[in-house]
Amino acid sequence: MSTVSSADALTAALASAQWISPYEPVPHPAGQRPAHELAGRFHWDGAATHRAEGAETGAEAVVYATAHGIYELFVNGVRVGDEELSPGFSSYRSRLQVQRWEITALLQPGENTISALLSDGWFRGRHGFVRRADGFGTATAFLAAVLLEPSAGAARPLLVTGDDWESRPSHITRADLMDGQAVDLRLEGLAAQGQPHSAVLSTDPLCADRTRLVPAGAPAVRRIQELRPARISTPGEGITVVDFGQNINGWVRLHELGPAGTRTVLRHGEALDDAGLLLVENIQAFDFATRAVLPAGQVDEVISAGRAGDTFEPRHTTHGFRYVQIEGAAGPIGADDILAVVVHSELARTGSFAASDPLLNALHDVVDWSFRGNACAVPTDCPQRERSGFTGDWQVFADTAALLYDVAAFSESWSSDLAADQWADGRVPTVVPNPAGNGPSGSAFEDMAAGSAGWGDAAVLVPWSMWRAYGDRAALACALPSMRAWVDYAARSAAAGRHPERAAARPLEQPHERYLWDTGFHFGEWLEPDTPPAPDPTVDHGIVATAFLHRSAKTLALAEAAVGRPASAERYGELAANVRAAWCAEYLAADNTLSEEAQGHYVRALAFGLVPEDRRQPVADRLAALIRQNGTRLGTGFLATGLLLPTLADAGHLDLAYELLFARDIPSWLGMIDQGATTMWEWWDGVTPSGVRGSLNHYSKGAVASFLYTHVAGIRLAESPEPGAEAYGAVVIAPQPGGGLSAAAASVQTRRGTVGAEWQIEGGSFRLTATIPAGVTAEIRLPDGSRVSGVGAGTHSYSVAAAAL
Ligand code: BGC
Repeated sequence: MSTVSSADALTAALASAQWISPYEPVPHPAGQRPAHELAGRFHWDGAATHRAEGAETGAEAVVYATAHGIYELFVNGVRVGDEELSPGFSSYRSRLQVQRWEITALLQPGENTISALLSDGWFRGRHGFVRRADGFGTATAFLAAVLLEPSAGAARPLLVTGDDWESRPSHITRADLMDGQAVDLRLEGLAAQGQPHSAVLSTDPLCADRTRLVPAGAPAVRRIQELRPARISTPGEGITVVDFGQNINGWVRLHELGPAGTRTVLRHGEALDDAGLLLVENIQAFDFATRAVLPAGQVDEVISAGRAGDTFEPRHTTHGFRYVQIEGAAGPIGADDILAVVVHSELARTGSFAASDPLLNALHDVVDWSFRGNACAVPTDCPQRERSGFTGDWQVFADTAALLYDVAAFSESWSSDLAADQWADGRVPTVVPNPAGNGPSGSAFEDMAAGSAGWGDAAVLVPWSMWRAYGDRAALACALPSMRAWVDYAARSAAAGRHPERAAARPLEQPHERYLWDTGFHFGEWLEPDTPPAPDPTVDHGIVATAFLHRSAKTLALAEAAVGRPASAERYGELAANVRAAWCAEYLAADNTLSEEAQGHYVRALAFGLVPEDRRQPVADRLAALIRQNGTRLGTGFLATGLLLPTLADAGHLDLAYELLFARDIPSWLGMIDQGATTMWEWWDGVTPSGVRGSLNHYSKGAVASFLYTHVAGIRLAESPEPGAEAYGAVVIAPQPGGGLSAAAASVQTRRGTVGAEWQIEGGSFRLTATIPAGVTAEIRLPDGSRVSGVGAGTHSYSVAAAAL
């Protein structure tokens, strides 16, 4: 596929096309709905001539297409392109991506058939914690036009979707992103299904809104890598379990399907029980109202047609899994019979890291895999239980992702979805894209949770992360209205109410309280060690929410300044200062302790700059003391974990940061790896001798990987770049060796070239080599405290005596 040039071009191309739906008189229950084939034909009289002309003029036969659901496109039975899960996931009520497929090479003189295999996907299928279906509508639909480009004048398309298209059931008898896919290969092929029905013109009012059509902007999802089995076992009669050695997002490809009629079932999961059988309890969600546990899903089935060379590879679902349990296979499954296919958005790798201690390299790898497992069309929380674009998860991980990969287009597409789904009052739903669109969904929990601090702040903090990393002014300007709407909402909420407990304890409202955001629902720090999830709207999370209000107002002020709006910058700067003063007045005691002694609050106090300069050190020392009191164990959850080590290191507690980085007890990152983690876990104690809990593939705690770049190797992007210094225009190279490491190296391919930092301790000296591309000015901060400013392009080496460190 190539990029569609503009929204106008694709709207014009599709102007005469009509949205069509499969003939489906009685839809199957959610999760069990088949994929349908929709097919149209056109005669291409002058195929040869057109081709000859094409060669002269560069004309190309193209298909513009999109769907409500997931579609695969075929020309004369041949699959077009190598993209998966088209049209991707976006806020379909406002933004629907259109693909442009080049098909000249697949056309033949005479009659040509264009067909689409269409399944529920995100539009009508199940996803989210409670696996609701029909989120965007109750019918799937397809829209396409075939035309020559550049077209001669007002040339009509060669074919458009309409009710002259045919609709047939397909060999995909069930397809759902969560539940999995079933295929009966005996039904394969257009002809196998008897007389077709006419496709049905769609009556969904959403179809009438063509302003939603946008060029595909998010990087396409593709099959990125294949993994061979690491181990195959047969823990029971007729049961094979394949361990791919790595938790991934994707599916398997199975060969040897047995004689016709053989029905093979494949169940996917992240863990095994003591008997070596698949264990899925950890990825089963529950119904909020009834607390009834929901099925884990991720079950594929294939019925063989008995044809030699047939393979099974589901492409209308994806799974989060390391293990697949296979039942019903005709014979033993060997290492050459099955592969795992890693599927995710195709992103260019930009970051590399290596250190003398392989444990850190393993940690970097595990975080990388966790991100890859959750970068499927949109950033998700986990690829098995929910597959949702949780705002808080991307908020905490976006900076790290932008070190590992070029996530500019991926994240900007998602931020456009966030803006589209933001409520009129500025509130941000907890998941984006949000099936309900920009208003309440009717689910009491979801509607209550919209607007949680730390989650909704993704509206501000994510575009700012992207600006710092990539410096796209237009993208930042485009995000500004959404950023403002969020901060205004939070500021209004702060001013409007008082938490009932505060009001009871202190009947007279103090002036600073108009800047305390202590009302409404907030997740709070969320999932601290030994703290099971217990979302409770009555809890006062003001210490967290007010901290985030300060952080976002301050960030918004910087963004306003960056796009040249000094008056707004000043206004939000003032708000940030007032909120900060209120936070200190309410939560910071005269003895520099906080009113709630949790590590996360101290981390935010320091990382968000809430604490006055002259009180930072005692606050940092208190954080260190709390960690020591806790047996030198971290105690942070979702929001503060990624900030913990940089905060400690920057506040004079580098040794403690390294102790936590290298800690092996639970809770710790390396402790997870000791227990076999190949991706980051949602819970610190995801796997213990007493069982498995929560998702084993949540990247949020993996935000620690940025410490490897910024402090261990020492490549630091400016926090608040001066004009021209965004996108690594100004970089600080500040390695902070420790933890017994003798060497570390990192590089980041930035928009301006590759920035690198590499150091070794050898023969009593610390030696740093910094690589700075043209257009970048670096400040080098050596571990003995010396600094060199204004360092320009080139490779520069520095040494200091190791004794001075
Ligand atoms: C998700 C998270 C999310 C959290 C709070 C969980 O179910 O998996 O990652 O951020 O809910 O909303």
